Amino acid sequence: MKRNRMVALLAVLAVGGLILAGTSSAQVKKGKTRTAATKYLMRGIMQPNCKGLGDLLKDSGPADDKAWDTAACHASCMNELSHSLMDDGRCPDAVWAEAAKTTLREGSAEVLAACEKKDLAAANAAFKKATQACAACHKAHKGK
Ligand code: HEC
Repeated sequence: MKRNRMVALLAVLAVGGLILAGTSSAQVKKGKTRTAATKYLMRGIMQPNCKGLGDLLKDSGPADDKAWDTAACHASCMNELSHSLMDDGRCPDAVWAEAAKTTLREGSAEVLAACEKKDLAAANAAFKKATQACAACHKAHKGK
């Protein structure tokens, strides 16, 4: 009798563990209710905005008001994504939260502020900070 109860308890724990493990990987790849997979947010929003911003901030920086405004647009989209990455049950742990909520969100907000002042040095420093989020989160969660 006791032995049967033990077996039943172990079975419940094992199933619970499988469910937990399944949910946590599903959340990294896709939120709980929304359609967009994380890889599409990355490929469709994060990567093009990050590349566009990096290209604009190279060398002597954005050439005119329009180019500075485009840099501000890229920084804003990256900032918005720092919110989406925390929504819909996507965030699995503290590494993810730190990368999205602190490094990416603050870094991209600082890039935006620098673009509004057309301060290239400040924009580059903040961009460097923002992109540290990519490496930190990917190291822990990409391809897992
Ligand atoms: C909070 C976590 C997190 C942050 C921050 C993050 N990424 Fe990602 N990224 C992921 C995860 C998770 C994947 C893998 C998704 C998958 O394969 O299901 C990924 C995948 C990618 C991919 C591959 C997409 C594809 O087509 O398969 C690119 C490109 C990418 N990220 C670019 C970036 C860039 C650039 C940054 C920084 C500006 C960044 N990411 C920041 C979590 C993050």
